[in-house]
Amino acid sequence: MAFSGLSKRIRELPKSNFPAIIKMAEEDKSIISLGIGEPDFPAPKKVKAALKNAVDKNFTHYSPTGGRHELQEAIAKKLKKENKIRVEDIHSQIIATSGSSEAIMMAIMGIVDVGEELLVPNPGFLTYRPTVELIDAVPVSYNLHSEDGFQIHVEEIKKLCTPKTQGIIVNTPSNPTGTVLKKKVLEELADLAIQKNIIIISDEAYEHLVYDNAKHLSMGSLNGMEEHVLSLFSFSKSYAMPGFRLGYAVGPERLVKAMQQFHLYTTLSPNTMSQIAGITALSKCGKDIEKMRNEYNKRRKILIKGIQEIDGLEIEVAPEGAFYLFPKITNGMSSEQASKALIQKAKVLTAPGNEFGTQGEGFLRMSYATALPKIKEAIERMKKNFH
Ligand SMILES: Cc1ncc(COP(=O)(O)O)c(C=O)c1O
Repeated sequence: MAFSGLSKRIRELPKSNFPAIIKMAEEDKSIISLGIGEPDFPAPKKVKAALKNAVDKNFTHYSPTGGRHELQEAIAKKLKKENKIRVEDIHSQIIATSGSSEAIMMAIMGIVDVGEELLVPNPGFLTYRPTVELIDAVPVSYNLHSEDGFQIHVEEIKKLCTPKTQGIIVNTPSNPTGTVLKKKVLEELADLAIQKNIIIISDEAYEHLVYDNAKHLSMGSLNGMEEHVLSLFSFSKSYAMPGFRLGYAVGPERLVKAMQQFHLYTTLSPNTMSQIAGITALSKCGKDIEKMRNEYNKRRKILIKGIQEIDGLEIEVAPEGAFYLFPKITNGMSSEQASKALIQKAKVLTAPGNEFGTQGEGFLRMSYATALPKIKEAIERMKKNFH
């Protein structure tokens, strides 16, 4: 029989307003964008040089399904030093992926069967829910609340666990809220995962982007979690390399080996030249990360102060991570209305909070991965034009 139309799973993907909003910002240069989730910094110089060198040296071939050996070695070293995660066997516990997006997809497909459940944050990064739905599994939201800075309540998570629950996606620092989860919360989650025999998918894409007194803790470093956590990392955010499309996952051998096998039937491996550049990023770019983090922190403080002076927006607990703020709308507008009003009247692009789940309704996501003068100008415009 001939092609009869789009599959139900594709037809039922959520309709996002994001592409239309981003197009608007691209077409109208007077718009200041606080809407985009990627660094405004270019990749570090050393990384760019390593990429060019990789091309010249003909690293233009396929890579093994787990990633290149030298990259896996550099990842293991970094995990030990920075995340306190010990890897017994780099070849069977680490997989390099095309961005952490691919790792999210492969992890979900590797863990959850049709009809089984995965707990996802609400509000949360916008791919989690649709990815679970794409494989006819069931995403179960755990709600996060602004009053307590969007921390997870493990008691609530416990109540949501059923015999069908396979795991929980935990994202710290968080997109869209900027929340850094507290050590106590992560320890309680770890206990729960062990007690219920489920797995944590720990999305740590923003691992380095924590400010002031906040500390990032990898659940993979906690006692007894060897079999209960798959940790996902990205080069896109703290290393400013989103276009390189490189990320990696580390976790239990059984799962990671299955993901490597699965790789054979998806992309095979991430871009080989990006992998070579990734080694330089991991081993030689500490200072670059630090410089960018300091700059983000400066912007974060100014944007928080600015938002506090805008009638109709409120930040209950100042977020300490990633490069996002998630202010509450207090003038009665919905997320869509507020975002539209800001773009039309103030020419400032923000992301409507409802794009990140039902619990995001009534909020806006603002990214400070934008140059400081633009942030200052955006604050002035919003002060005058948010109504
Ligand atoms: C929480 C989170 N995880 C994962 C990703 C995916 O990043 P990448 O595929 O570029 O590594 C993003 C990107 O915005 C994100 O915000």
